[in-house]
Amino acid sequence: MNVLVLGGDGYLGSHLVDEAVALGHQVTVFDRFPYGTSRNLEHLRERVRLVSGEFVNADSLRRAAEGQDIAYHFICMTSPAASWNDPYIEVEGNLRGALQLLEVLSEAKVRKVVFPSSGGTVYGTHIQPVGEQILPKPSSPYGIAKLATEHFLEYYRQRTGLAYDVYRIGNAYGPRQPLVGPQGVVGMWMQCILDGRAVTVYGDQSVVRDYVYVKDIGRLMAYSLRDPEASDLFNLGTGIGTSVLELLELFKQTIHQPFEYQLLPRRTCDNVCVVLDSTKLLARLPGFRYATLAEKLPETWDYIKQRNRP
Ligand SMILES: NC(=O)c1ccc[n+]([C@@H]2O[C@H](COP(=O)([O-])OP(=O)(O)OC[C@H]3O[C@@H](n4cnc5c(N)ncnc54)[C@H](O)[C@@H]3O)[C@@H](O)[C@H]2O)c1
Repeated sequence: MNVLVLGGDGYLGSHLVDEAVALGHQVTVFDRFPYGTSRNLEHLRERVRLVSGEFVNADSLRRAAEGQDIAYHFICMTSPAASWNDPYIEVEGNLRGALQLLEVLSEAKVRKVVFPSSGGTVYGTHIQPVGEQILPKPSSPYGIAKLATEHFLEYYRQRTGLAYDVYRIGNAYGPRQPLVGPQGVVGMWMQCILDGRAVTVYGDQSVVRDYVYVKDIGRLMAYSLRDPEASDLFNLGTGIGTSVLELLELFKQTIHQPFEYQLLPRRTCDNVCVVLDSTKLLARLPGFRYATLAEKLPETWDYIKQRNRP
């Protein structure tokens, strides 16, 4: 099949590209390539088509969408912290952009779109693992826009016949994580340690997240390639909650060098606790097992050290 990956040079998108290429699909990556060249797909240069374009430009999108069967939409212009005090950027950037994309894909007769939603923000706070049937209760502009996009996907399915899959994903970690910026605690902490700066820990034992190894995310989201006509919504998380203090302990066990850290209160833009029950998705993929933090933090640390070498 012809697979378009919007934002495919980014963190999650590039791992999906790896999977789609390995499965034998023809992949086109649409990205603005802010560094002028690919950051994460050099190893696939001969095997994927790279299209440089701006997401808000409908003509660029139209050209990229031509002849595609499935589109993955990984482009995002915000983070929960960035839009907390500026909700308009969710509406003007992500939501308006998603609607324009869904119009373009429908016109181009693309059969399906796949959307990475946010398991960490759409549900609100829950002590027990949450399944897809729980009523979402996002409290940040970021989570509200993600949920609104999910609803628009269903609207387009009804209006234009564009199928969709939504994955409500936990907190990703692993190779290619951006090391600066407001999101991605594992990468950010590791970069701080390498730079000799203190790690900032927001929250305490009560701040719990579901950390998912990024290659597992790529592998699981490739499930959508099996049926371009089906529409569904899945949680994508391990079902294991880790508090920020437990994560700090795991860092101490993984990184065999002393590092400083600073404990600060939870930021209001951060959800308190959420762990995802992904029984529904796992039932479709017998034999799949999520990697654990203890297994994959060492590999992530090695990767980040390697990337920091001059
Ligand atoms: N990283 C996580 O832990 C996580 C968890 C849940 C959901 N998600 C969702 O997955 C998606 C991808 O996240 P990510 O962490 O891979 O982000 P990322 O920033 O690594 O990737 C986004 C890509 O989109 C490109 N891009 C951004 N704006 C663009 C524009 N205007 N035009 C063209 N290209 C543009 C960037 O160059 C980048 O390659 C987002 O929707 C995010 O909300 C991420």
